[in-house]
Amino acid sequence: MPTYDFDTPPDRGRFHSMKWDRVAGTDVLPMWVADMDFAAPAEVLAALREHIDHGVLGYALPWPGLLDAIVEGLARDHGWRIDPDWIVLLPGVVTGFNLACALAGEPDDEVLTLTPVYPPMLTAPRNTKRRLVRSDLVHDGARWVCDMDDLRARTTSRTRMLMLCSPHNPLGRSFSRDELAALAAHAEAHDLLICSDEIHCGLVLDESRPHIPVASLSEAIARRTITLMAPSKTWNIAGLSSAFAVVSDAKLRASLKRTADGIVPHTNSLGLVATEAAYRHGHTWRRALLDYLRGNAERIQQTVSNIAGITTTPVEATYLAWLDCRALQFDNPVRHFAEHGVLMSDGRDFGAAGFLRLNFGCSRSMLDEALQRISAAASKPESH
Ligand SMILES: Cc1ncc(COP(=O)(O)O)c(C=O)c1O
Repeated sequence: MPTYDFDTPPDRGRFHSMKWDRVAGTDVLPMWVADMDFAAPAEVLAALREHIDHGVLGYALPWPGLLDAIVEGLARDHGWRIDPDWIVLLPGVVTGFNLACALAGEPDDEVLTLTPVYPPMLTAPRNTKRRLVRSDLVHDGARWVCDMDDLRARTTSRTRMLMLCSPHNPLGRSFSRDELAALAAHAEAHDLLICSDEIHCGLVLDESRPHIPVASLSEAIARRTITLMAPSKTWNIAGLSSAFAVVSDAKLRASLKRTADGIVPHTNSLGLVATEAAYRHGHTWRRALLDYLRGNAERIQQTVSNIAGITTTPVEATYLAWLDCRALQFDNPVRHFAEHGVLMSDGRDFGAAGFLRLNFGCSRSMLDEALQRISAAASKPESH
C-alpha cells in the first residue's frame, strides 16, 4: 500500500474556509464543522487539474463512466449492488433530505427521526411544512441505541417518513443489521417512506460493524427508501457540492426528480469529475485514512477517560466524537472550551444540551494539542 502523509497539515490559512475563517486571527483550534484538514487524494486532484487545464467548465450530465464508478464503488465498499438507473445526482445530501420531506405525505404530516442528529435534519420537515417528531437514542451502557418502544409510541396515523442518519452523526454509530431490520420493519408496519442519509458510509472505523445500506436489507425495503450518499465526507471534497440519491422504485424516483425540477440546481461539473475519480481510484487512500482516524479515535478514548466530568463512547464511524460534558454543569460549554482554545460544535444544535461534538479529522499533533487544552479547560471555572 502506498504511504500517505496525514501528519503534515495543509496550510488552510492560504484560502478561505468555513472551518478556519471562524477562528481567523486567534489561536483557537477549529474542531467543529465536518470537513477534514487533509488534502483530497492525489488521483482526485489530478482529475480536477486535467479538467481545469482543458479550460471549459460548462454544464455536465451524468455520463456512463461516472455512474459505473459509483455502482462499482458501492459494490466494492459495501457489497451493495445497484442499477445505474437508480442514481439521481444532487448538489447535496441536505438538498436530498429536504426533497424527501416534500414527498412525505401532505403539510402537517409527521417525519420521525432519531435524536440527537445533524442539525439540518431537525429543520428539514419544517421547511416543507411537515412536523418533526423526535425519538431520543438512549445509552444502553455500551452504546447509543434506538428505543424501539419510544419510536412505536411516537408513531401516529400522520407519520409518513422515517428519516435516518446511518452511520449516525453525531453519535458515531454504525448500526447493525438487526438494528436496521427493526427500524425497517417499523417503517413497513406503518407504511412509512424511509429517507436514509448515509453520507458517512465510507468512514466506518470499527471493522466489526461494516456499513449496511438500509435499502440493501430487501427489495421491499428498497422500494420505500431514498438513500442519500456522497463522496464528500470520505474523500474530503465537501465544497464541490456533489451527492446523489439511490432510489430503486421508478415511481418514487420520478417524484423525487419532479420535486427537484426547477428548484434544485445542476450538479457542479467539477464535483462530478471528482466523484468519478474518488469512487474509481480513492480506495487505498480511504483505507489509509481510516487507519489514521482509528489512531485519532483511540487517542480521544484514552485522553477523555482521564478527564473528570467528560465521558464519551467509542466512535464506530465518522471522524466526530460526541463528548458528554453534562457533569461539568457549564451553562455554555462550547463558549468555555472556545475561550480555552478549542472550538467544537454545540450539542444544543443537535438537540442535546451539555454535549459537544469534536471533529478529529486532523493531524495527530493538532488533535493532541486540542485534547490537552480540553483537559486543562475542564477543570477551570466557567467565566460569566
Ligand atoms: C449527516 C450529514 N448529512 C449531510 C451533510 C451535508 O451534506 P451536503 O453538504 O452534501 O449537503 C453532513 C455534513 O456534515 C452530514 O454530517
